[in-house]
Amino acid sequence: MTREALTITDERNGATYEIPIEGAAIRATDLQRIKAAPTDHGLVSYDPALANTATCKSAIGFVDGAAGILRYRGYPIQELAEHSTFLETAYLIVKGELPDQAHLATWTRNVMTHSMVHENIKKFMEGFRYDAHPMGVLVSTVGALSTFYPDARDVQDLESRRLQTRRLIGKMPTLAAYAYRKSLGLPYVYPDNDLGYTGNLLSMLFRMTELRYEPNPVLEHALDVLFILHAEHEQNCSTNAVRCVASAHADPYSAVAAGIAALYGPRHGGANEEALRMLEEIGSVDRIPAFLATCKSGERRLAGFGHRIYKNYDPRAQLIKKLALQVFEVTGKNPLIDLALELERIALDDDYFVSRKLYPNLDFYSGLIYQAIGLPPTMFPVLFAIARTAGWLAHWAEFIRDPEQRIVRPRQLYVGEGARSYTPLAARPEPTAREDAVSATI
Ligand code: ACO
Repeated sequence: MTREALTITDERNGATYEIPIEGAAIRATDLQRIKAAPTDHGLVSYDPALANTATCKSAIGFVDGAAGILRYRGYPIQELAEHSTFLETAYLIVKGELPDQAHLATWTRNVMTHSMVHENIKKFMEGFRYDAHPMGVLVSTVGALSTFYPDARDVQDLESRRLQTRRLIGKMPTLAAYAYRKSLGLPYVYPDNDLGYTGNLLSMLFRMTELRYEPNPVLEHALDVLFILHAEHEQNCSTNAVRCVASAHADPYSAVAAGIAALYGPRHGGANEEALRMLEEIGSVDRIPAFLATCKSGERRLAGFGHRIYKNYDPRAQLIKKLALQVFEVTGKNPLIDLALELERIALDDDYFVSRKLYPNLDFYSGLIYQAIGLPPTMFPVLFAIARTAGWLAHWAEFIRDPEQRIVRPRQLYVGEGARSYTPLAARPEPTAREDAVSATI
């Protein structure tokens, strides 16, 4: 009978070890038993960027990058995008099952009830400069919410966790819209809870002097589908940041603020902003080859292309591409779509991108929709953050409930100086030698 185990021989001393295999994994702590000498600390696995390390067992999202599969709680993303709504999907993500009618109605009411923010939050937001990037505003404001809801610190309390979840999902559109209105110097628009989640967001973003804002149903639906597609994506950079902060039992506002900070980066959620700026910079189809040459030489990256996990077409990108065409029927065609389609065609015909399995990710086309709706590039990652809050909160709660988890404390391989004695100021090396050493560290 085959045993679910790995037998390792340490060539340094001939010792053999049997390491159990659980699922498709070995426990990294089992490697600690492998020692060259009884006094050493044992082997660690070295995995920069956590490229092949499972840090948790999770039942929320599932991605098979080679096959281009994404499921939330087992449901294929394509089916959710076609049949569900963002709030129903958010329920599924945080609670694990699709709601029945009564639960969906209660959940919707409960989330929308939390769409208002404390007036002091508005004052807090006033403190930012007129040209503050809305993602920077969002990171800080979501973090600041922890000071408004001290009950959120009780992370072991199920009712508190549920309340904070509804609260934050409810408030994210309002914070996002306030960040946008502030950047334009426009008065804030209070939530209209008679509208749906994305209809209300459109109202808070775009309402001017009309008494009642009527969201365009096609745009409202497109935003809802985009939110479904962005709601969860298992263990990525921002979710890992949320989980790491959760491990210290910090409140969810602080944990989600960490996720937003990670998402801000151009290699993550900031890529949709970068992708649009890149298309604008390329400007015309004849300039695509020269631009791609700079990507192939390593001078820059093709924004919205490539993914750590998807080595096939990102299924979300395919859905967004279709959605873009529906939106353009209402808004008029975004002229950059032809450039994007041609850029994708040329890249996917080029051995550099093909051999590295670099395909469009969800950020390649989403910016074109957001721009057509009337939003500037700085708001693109903000919309991503609204949707991903559902996934982050599900991971935050899953982490807190997981009896196997402890505070995250990664290991490192120390490669710095050995122990050395403090050198008095007067005895330190010449400035030039010191400056070279110091400038190499930051
Ligand atoms: N353009 C050009 N070359 C690329 C790109 C790109 N967008 N992405 C990866 N490569 C190349 C790398 O230079 C490398 O080439 P090499 O083997 O010759 O050195 C190879 O492909 C592998 O790249 P890695 O950096 O090892 O891939 P990794 O999995 O670490 O990076 C990432 C994934 C960060 C998404 C990367 O593809 C990237 O920077 N893409 C552009 C930014 C982007 O669109 N991010 C959004 C991702 S989706 C999201 O976060 C929501």
